[in-house]
Amino acid sequence: MSITSNCTASVIQDAAKSLVNGNLVAFPTETVYGLGADACNEKAVARIYEVKGRPTDHPLIVHISSMELLDKWACEIPEYAIKLAREFWPGPMTLVLPRTSIAKDFITGSQDTVAIRVPSHTLANQLLKEFESLGGYGVAAPSANRFGKVSPTNSEAVEEEIAKFLSESDQILDGGQSHIGIESTIIDCTGGIPIVLRPGSVTLEMVENLLGQKLGDLDSSNREIKISGSFESHYSPNAHVVLSGATSSGDGFIALEEIPTPVGAIRLASPKDNIEYAQILYSALRLADSKGISIISVIPPINQGLGIAINNRLLKASKHL
Ligand code: TXA
Ligand code: MG
Repeated sequence: MSITSNCTASVIQDAAKSLVNGNLVAFPTETVYGLGADACNEKAVARIYEVKGRPTDHPLIVHISSMELLDKWACEIPEYAIKLAREFWPGPMTLVLPRTSIAKDFITGSQDTVAIRVPSHTLANQLLKEFESLGGYGVAAPSANRFGKVSPTNSEAVEEEIAKFLSESDQILDGGQSHIGIESTIIDCTGGIPIVLRPGSVTLEMVENLLGQKLGDLDSSNREIKISGSFESHYSPNAHVVLSGATSSGDGFIALEEIPTPVGAIRLASPKDNIEYAQILYSALRLADSKGISIISVIPPINQGLGIAINNRLLKASKHL
């Protein structure tokens, strides 16, 4: 396993070849780091599940370099999905659509839908372009963490999570800190109206404003959707995350900058706004673990806009299995 920091064009070309040869490549995206494999290679995809320790019926997101390749993977694409793709791709949004025959059961968890994303991170985009120029159709990439754990937002965190499970020919590409910091917004586009399955930095308001309509609600729809990120407990550090505001001496503390640190608590992060809150959240949870802190007291931001996605991750981080 190698970690490469100076990702020149030739490093990226080699990484693309390595994907074609069936190896795993962890790479940065603007949301979080992904653990990539050729989405058409069953053996390579099986290794993603092994390395992550993830149940095999949980579907993966296929990453492509541009909207032009969408037809390869998805069919019966509604007009509103095209609108979303034109507005928010490349970027932190994943669309769930009816699959074509290229999207095999080992990608979709045997569902008839496939999740597709066009990331905007330059390195990710270059890697996908190179991979496609070698004949590849798409790169399956879940977040590069062990199942149920905190997603990595830099290469050190990827190393910490999965290095020991990677083999000699796998690699990690370092592209600095992921600038959004939480996973993409997932939007189900298989019905008459879109439904947000996982909130992210493409917010409900942004989608509703673009489409000029209210979005559907998963609970009141009768769509059957399996989504591992919707397990109650997820994104969990080893420390217990407490959202009540109760703080004892020696606890970690995360809150917006304007909120003072309670006496005796150890400040882990002081984001100035929600954008920074999302950016630093996962690193702050990891910092607590590296300091051996057992309780992290978090004051969540107001539950609107990007705050909805932050609250969603915090709630899941606070529930241990
Ligand atoms: O920002 C992101 O989306 C990152 C980066 C690497 O792109 N990827 C990511 O992948 O978060 P992952 O596997 O950690 O989370 C993807 C979620 C899972 O909860 C999975 O169940 C859901 O997407 N998913 C994938 N395919 C689906 C489908 N066909 N229908 C419903 N949910 C799906
Ligand atoms: Mg994940």
